[in-house]
Amino acid sequence: MCGIVGYVGPKKAQEVLLEGLKRLEYRGYDSAGIVTVSSGITQLRAKGKVAELEQKITDDNTNDGVGIGHTRWATHGEPSERNAHPHHVGDVYLVHNGIIENYKELKQQLAEYEFVSDTDTEVLAALIDSLYKREDVKLENAVTQALKLVEGTYGIAALSPKEPHKVVVARKGSPLIVGVGDGETLVASDAAALIAHTDNAIYLKDGELAVCTAGNVEVMNLDEQPVSAIVEKIETNLEAIEKQGYDHFLIKEIMEQPDTLRSTLSGRVVKEQGLLRLGGLNMNEEELRAVKNIFIVACGTASYAGQLASYYIEQFCDDVTIRNEVASELRYRSFNVPENSIAIFVSQSGETADTRACLQEMKSRGVRCLGIVNAVGSTIAREVDGGVYVHAGPEISVASTKAFTSQVSALVLVGLVMAQAKGVDQELVNQYIDEFDALPDELEKTLARHEEFQAIAKKYERYDNAIYMGRDTMFPVALEGALKLKETSYIHTEGQAAGELKHGSIALVDDRFFEVAFIDEHRLFEKTMSNVIEVNARGGHVLAITNSPRDIDAETVVRVESQLQLLTPLVLNVVSQLFAYYIAVARGNDVDQPRNLAKSVTVE
Ligand code: AGP
Repeated sequence: MCGIVGYVGPKKAQEVLLEGLKRLEYRGYDSAGIVTVSSGITQLRAKGKVAELEQKITDDNTNDGVGIGHTRWATHGEPSERNAHPHHVGDVYLVHNGIIENYKELKQQLAEYEFVSDTDTEVLAALIDSLYKREDVKLENAVTQALKLVEGTYGIAALSPKEPHKVVVARKGSPLIVGVGDGETLVASDAAALIAHTDNAIYLKDGELAVCTAGNVEVMNLDEQPVSAIVEKIETNLEAIEKQGYDHFLIKEIMEQPDTLRSTLSGRVVKEQGLLRLGGLNMNEEELRAVKNIFIVACGTASYAGQLASYYIEQFCDDVTIRNEVASELRYRSFNVPENSIAIFVSQSGETADTRACLQEMKSRGVRCLGIVNAVGSTIAREVDGGVYVHAGPEISVASTKAFTSQVSALVLVGLVMAQAKGVDQELVNQYIDEFDALPDELEKTLARHEEFQAIAKKYERYDNAIYMGRDTMFPVALEGALKLKETSYIHTEGQAAGELKHGSIALVDDRFFEVAFIDEHRLFEKTMSNVIEVNARGGHVLAITNSPRDIDAETVVRVESQLQLLTPLVLNVVSQLFAYYIAVARGNDVDQPRNLAKSVTVE
């Protein structure tokens, strides 16, 4: 997704901006640009990576004082230099995340301007400039007046040579954070771009604007009324962002799951007392007991986390009906929300547009909304009524891995707390507590075999088609595994309920395909094996990933010794993650930033 950086202070702005843009590269983008202003003004833009932008820097560029920068993931207009931000119109330079829905109507009212790009952002820059021309209008006045005419979403940063000591930022629906440094001020769409300079941050809210000068920030609403701004600590650090010696963020994030899961569970599972503590739910026992319907709403990997958790929750909350909904579908469906419903929104970034739209809809209907979110301070996390931060740490690789494990675990904990309020047998809760207590070590044991899985992956790296299958809790694992493989290796991969194969997909089985079967010793082992045998009988190339000690008739068998009875899917899933990673590396792909993808899909 697009990234924004800005700087006002004594350092060399160009260098601060470029370093900040590099910290945002993981979000996925296709062009970049910066503008710096002090004595002179330098605007540089380039299609492609930040490295291309750096090539354009010459000694006579202005390099100090004030600047803004942007990495663009194209929405209006193809990736190109002329569509890259910052856009310059008259006395205004502007970078923008989000979508101006009424940019065409606004463009018609700005007939005096010659537009050189296809973007909605250039129209917004022209609108601001048209208002800025008036007598005694400061940049922030022009910005607030312009934003009142805008429909859509924005996170913007603007500067002007007319007032070269300030950057004006504003947000509605797209995150913007103001870093308050010592004698300097920074802005960014993601805390990763700030932490090298300060860990003091103001998380702007929708409808707020900030005037940033060196070491000073004035926050106001669009009526230019001052707003009290809380300076918070940024909950991450540089080390967490760096690769820490791994070749890719993806393998780092796969391998750190035992620790990130411990962080998710820490303070929330008290084994000795058989206690679960989720303070952020903001629901008392009576409210938890009253829940009869749960909507779990998410996209991509987060939706598969919701699906997997549902199998568990419906077991120990047997009076609850769960609807798993893909946000991009739910937002346009007509659906009824029964009495005693809650909606749970699962999102690593907390910024996914489709998920956010469903959150808005549910809130408008008065439904209690909970968030299962990783990014602290993100929009979804701020807009829900309560929830659980999964505390998996920054997830940099576009392919989500550690967040999945933490999301499933957090959701199951929410279900268990609800079950306790409903009077479930404590014995069952203790069984889950014991399994969660053992799970990080079980993951550690399995991850330690990564070279073995790398060798097995070699057998499959040349295929261009695959089917992943599983039953019951292994079905969402198959869906998630298929997504991991396809989005990193570009192998066309279908995730299937194993029982569904004979209803159509088994027609695909031939030498062009390989199949991965997730087989659980403790759930529907025989049923899944019969599906494997059906595939074998048609010349399939089955890789079985299993916790079963029994004989398994498959071309390749990866056996995971595990004491777990319930949470095995999360152990087999890390095998699937490693498998996807090693195949993607073998195929020479950009593992952390796969083509066409962005880390956070903040547009529809
Ligand atoms: C998963 O590997 C993908 N990167 C993608 O499906 C992702 O899970 C989805 O876009 C949801 O993102 P979120 O969790 O940040 O809302």
